[in-house]
Amino acid sequence: MVTRRGVLTLVGGGCVLAAVGAGGFVAANGPSRSARAPWREAGQETEFRRRALSYAILAPNPHNRQPWRVRLDGEDALTLYCDLDRRLPATDPYDRQIVIGHGAFLELLALAAAEDGYGTEVTPFPEGEDMATLDERPVALVRFIEGGAEPNPLFASTLARHTNRSPFDARDVDAGAFAATLSSGNVQGVTANGCGNDALAAQLRDLTWRAHSVEMTTDYTNQESVDLMRIGAREVAANPDGLCLEGPMIGLGRLAGMINREALSDPNSSASQQGMAMFHEAAMSARAYAWLANSGTTRASQISAGRAYMRLVLAAEREGLKVHPWSQSLQEYPEMAGLYREVHDLIGSGQTLQMLVRVGYAKPVVAAPRWPMETHLIA
Ligand SMILES: Cc1cc2nc3c(=O)[nH]c(=O)nc-3n(C[C@H](O)[C@H](O)[C@H](O)COP(=O)(O)O)c2cc1C
Repeated sequence: MVTRRGVLTLVGGGCVLAAVGAGGFVAANGPSRSARAPWREAGQETEFRRRALSYAILAPNPHNRQPWRVRLDGEDALTLYCDLDRRLPATDPYDRQIVIGHGAFLELLALAAAEDGYGTEVTPFPEGEDMATLDERPVALVRFIEGGAEPNPLFASTLARHTNRSPFDARDVDAGAFAATLSSGNVQGVTANGCGNDALAAQLRDLTWRAHSVEMTTDYTNQESVDLMRIGAREVAANPDGLCLEGPMIGLGRLAGMINREALSDPNSSASQQGMAMFHEAAMSARAYAWLANSGTTRASQISAGRAYMRLVLAAEREGLKVHPWSQSLQEYPEMAGLYREVHDLIGSGQTLQMLVRVGYAKPVVAAPRWPMETHLIA
């Protein structure tokens, strides 16, 4: 019998480890080690741009698609492109979230370069942009300036920061830690705001859960996630991206035939229902939320939102707080239109909401997989 704690599904991205397990079974069925190699190897490159890139690929990004393509230009520059096959057309029809992921990448690149004393001059969308869709044109040009920056203490949290989807501890978020986190996200013209332990947080708990349910019960949006699931360590190692389901109980559930793509495609299946129950527990444990907003009228504003988000999550980690995006209500597909309006009316203040996350306390989680840095480089 596979229990509630054992079978999971997921929506909205990332990696879920099934709970518990013992002895050799854990060792044999634990998360893929090779898929986490980039976390262990970060910083080992000798050339400064490659060293910075080895950290930048650890940035948070939607559904962990890692859609970054990089060409090194001359001795002191690079061009960043989007791998257009790694977008999420169902849940992110205008590529807004994919661009936020590029912004997070650029911010971590800049922070890593600053560790070596290099400043960065970032020009977003140097050949123009289309707000309806990304295309072959570059996302950004980056020029490195020797001696142009000092190390930033935020960088120290790079390897410890992970999206944390666990239920959060039943305690209020410390006001000072929360304020410091929000203040780090108030950069690049982005407004970071938040609420905790109050009626607004209760409204957001309800709203984010309803949005999650819409995504899971809308065929084509749920299917987008299911298609990106890597079930078990072997699939994760073969494709270290997307949404990973790993751990001993996943091994058991797979053996028992309960966890497979067909079951997860059906919101009424036992695997999906149990996954929903686990996400419900996580959703209801939220006591504080943070959100980032700006004009949202240009691609550069989406890059800025990603840069601000990177700083916010690094600051949260420094402050002992965990972060979990709850993005569904911000997504722009027709079935979400009502909740999109509702969340903007509630907390948008006339701007475009770019990120909405729950913030709290939880035990650390295992790192999400990454493709090796080399795979992102254009020869
Ligand atoms: C724009 C954006 C939206 C995201 N939305 C969600 C979400 O709705 N739910 C979720 O669990 N994770 C979400 N994430 C987190 C990613 O899934 C996560 O960053 C990715 O799986 C890599 O894992 P890591 O952050 O632990 O390195 C989002 C990340 C970004 C940048």
